[in-house]
Amino acid sequence: MRRQDPRPNFMTSAFLKCIEQSCQQRYPLDAKEHQCPECGGLLDVQYDFPRIDPASLRLLWQQRKTSSAITDQSGVWRFRELLPFAPEGTNVVSLSEGRTPLIEVNRTGEWAGGVRLAIKHQGNNPTGSFKDLGMTACITQAAILGSRVTACASTGNTSASMAAYAARAGMKAVVFVPFGKISTAKLAQALEFGAVVIEMGDNFDQAFRMLRELTDELGLYLVNSLNPFRLEGQKTIVFEILEQRDWRVPDYLVLPGGNLGNVSSVGKGLQELRQLGLIDKLPRLVVVQAEGASPFYTMIATGAGEITPVQPRTEASAIRIGNPVNWKKALRAVRLTDGLCESVTDEQIFEAKATLAKDGVGCEPASAAAVAGTQKLVRSGKIEDGADVVAVLTGHQLKDPEISIKRRSERELAQQRLHVEADIHKLRAVLESVMLQSA
Ligand code: F0G
Repeated sequence: MRRQDPRPNFMTSAFLKCIEQSCQQRYPLDAKEHQCPECGGLLDVQYDFPRIDPASLRLLWQQRKTSSAITDQSGVWRFRELLPFAPEGTNVVSLSEGRTPLIEVNRTGEWAGGVRLAIKHQGNNPTGSFKDLGMTACITQAAILGSRVTACASTGNTSASMAAYAARAGMKAVVFVPFGKISTAKLAQALEFGAVVIEMGDNFDQAFRMLRELTDELGLYLVNSLNPFRLEGQKTIVFEILEQRDWRVPDYLVLPGGNLGNVSSVGKGLQELRQLGLIDKLPRLVVVQAEGASPFYTMIATGAGEITPVQPRTEASAIRIGNPVNWKKALRAVRLTDGLCESVTDEQIFEAKATLAKDGVGCEPASAAAVAGTQKLVRSGKIEDGADVVAVLTGHQLKDPEISIKRRSERELAQQRLHVEADIHKLRAVLESVMLQSA
């Protein structure tokens, strides 16, 4: 491993730890398993952080923005003091991920019921989704461990991201996706980055179950969000959001929920920021699921003790997941922050997406669920009007372009998509009527 910039004096020990209260077993970072070998529980990467001075750490992170070192250019590794599982000087596998904009969307905030709404656009990442934050972390860990073949099951974005980072690291990538159920754009990305794409089964859950049965046996490096190193990268989204807000904590932080890795990582990031004194209160985390794929919402709404898997149904294909593997970590995050959970119909998702477009912001359907859920919670009085809300848009508009056209009404298309003969008189007449409409 080549040495890059030396880390300031911030030595931390890192280990894996089972999240089950009754177990809490610790394992070394190079343990092969992604789940506790003792009890099957989910694992966290945990650190014994030293005492730090929050002001100097903030300043250091700020100063790195003007540096051209790879680790400083990355919106993940710029915060490396808080993900010190990678030894000092590690040659990280990065594509300059993170560094995404936080944008106020006033029209959408009004539409949602009069909240101060900003969106954190994770679609502005190298492969167009928030997965890149997690992928730089876990492919770097795969490289540290000397892995040669990486694998994931995916609704499309994880596969696109893994394929890119694996290509960069010189590893083979194998992805399992539900047959005919992921967008062409995401499939195209995985293929272009050289992954082997295995299309199987009807939904993510089936593909994931099959893959998990074979990973250990075949020595594949699994990068699904079951892999705790993925979540270490993804947690940096809250560091960026808070830095962009001069460390003012919003009232609510809203995310769409599928396999529930993202909300888990955000909860962990917030908890660490508070532990280290970088913030003194927490935003309430809000998880929004699509109604036809909302087992986590149902569990919370009914007060059930555990998740009941469902057959997932939604046009927001990225979150078409019926058996989310991270539900225990997500529940921990919701409880930690006194959070909320909501479910929204596909109609509500597409209405939110159309509203964001009026603010000039595009995203894929799953992302718009966060905004639809905000509106629903304001309407039911669970989020107060005037609240300071940040919604995470998880994926780029062009991840699913077919649906943007399919979802436009005939009337809208009649006004917007005009097929005109190449005749100057006809063209003039059409343009005149367009100009009349906007007068
Ligand atoms: N939004 C988008 C655009 C996604 O691709 C996903 C998950 C989510 C939200 C939900 O995030 O699973 O952490 O709760 N996509 C995964 C994939 C499952 O395979 O690309 P989560």
